[in-house]
Amino acid sequence: MPPLPDIAQRVLRWRRRFGRHDLPWQHTRDPYRVWLSEIMLQQTQVATVRDYYMRFLQRFPDLRALADAPLDEVLALWSGLGYYSRARNLHRCAQVVQHEHGGVFPASSQALARLPGIGRSTAAAIAAFCHGERVAILDGNVKRVLSRVLGFDGDLGLAAQERELWRMAQALVPEHDAAGYTQGLMDLGATLCTARQPDCARCPLATLCVAHRQGRPEAYPVKSKRLRRGTRAHALLWLAQADRLWLVQRPPQGVWAALWSLPEFDSPEDVGRLLDGWPGRGEALPAIAHALTHFDWSLQPLRWQLPARLPARRLDALSAVLPPGRWVALPQALQMGLPAPVRKLLTPR
Ligand code: ADE
Repeated sequence: MPPLPDIAQRVLRWRRRFGRHDLPWQHTRDPYRVWLSEIMLQQTQVATVRDYYMRFLQRFPDLRALADAPLDEVLALWSGLGYYSRARNLHRCAQVVQHEHGGVFPASSQALARLPGIGRSTAAAIAAFCHGERVAILDGNVKRVLSRVLGFDGDLGLAAQERELWRMAQALVPEHDAAGYTQGLMDLGATLCTARQPDCARCPLATLCVAHRQGRPEAYPVKSKRLRRGTRAHALLWLAQADRLWLVQRPPQGVWAALWSLPEFDSPEDVGRLLDGWPGRGEALPAIAHALTHFDWSLQPLRWQLPARLPARRLDALSAVLPPGRWVALPQALQMGLPAPVRKLLTPR
């Protein structure tokens, strides 16, 4: 194994001039803020996270506020960011730190990685940013940067190959300013060493970069286990009565877990069978296409408007055959933790 190139000093120097220095979660070593930003930034662009981060901090300025809040409120503030298991783990993590660690995040990356929702790379980012721990991160962006610079062509779909890249990533972390280096790698991956059309002309690592020398940066990282995307189709029932609609809370596992939503059915025909003979009138609305990590989801909303004046006993009898849920006034529904496409559907135009 040839010695690893000294990429750290180049990254540090480049970052001082060209890195991002004005992100709202920089210039703090408060683990609560750093942790929150790192969780939000998983799979999500900086531009999207900014506003969510600020709003979240306004409502939950510290760990205790978050730990004490009801999950529904956390999910409501997360609505639209996607990957909701992050929000549930965030809430659980806040409670674990509050109640089992005296309200103080552990300092070491090893201990952080044992908390809910904090993986190895996120733990390392928090420890490097808050305490300068000399520890490597290896998120998707950094895998791309390092595999290109090093010409690492091992299959990152294989655990042994990923371990090998972790080992090299760790060896590259400088003795001093692990925080600056970590932020610099992130900045490089986000702004120059992008998945498509990387800007090698501006890259401080180009003269060391094996992938650049080979003229094929986009061939890295190598990952054989490609996701085979599937498709799914379901129907949603938007059942309205006066100014209220019927909402159900989704199961705690799976897509949109624990969020409030419209009742979901396997097909529009299933909805038709349920509503057969009901008073009121209905219409099919345009289908919603929603892309998730593992499949494309098509949702067919059917809106059924019950008569505004309906004897309470009759309404109770109809409600009893619906999937368990509750009647909620529309403005109140829009304050709840709804999946973004459902919120969009329900929002008056
Ligand atoms: N992506 C993940 N963590 C980040 C951070 N701290 N700054 C910018 N982008 C990021």
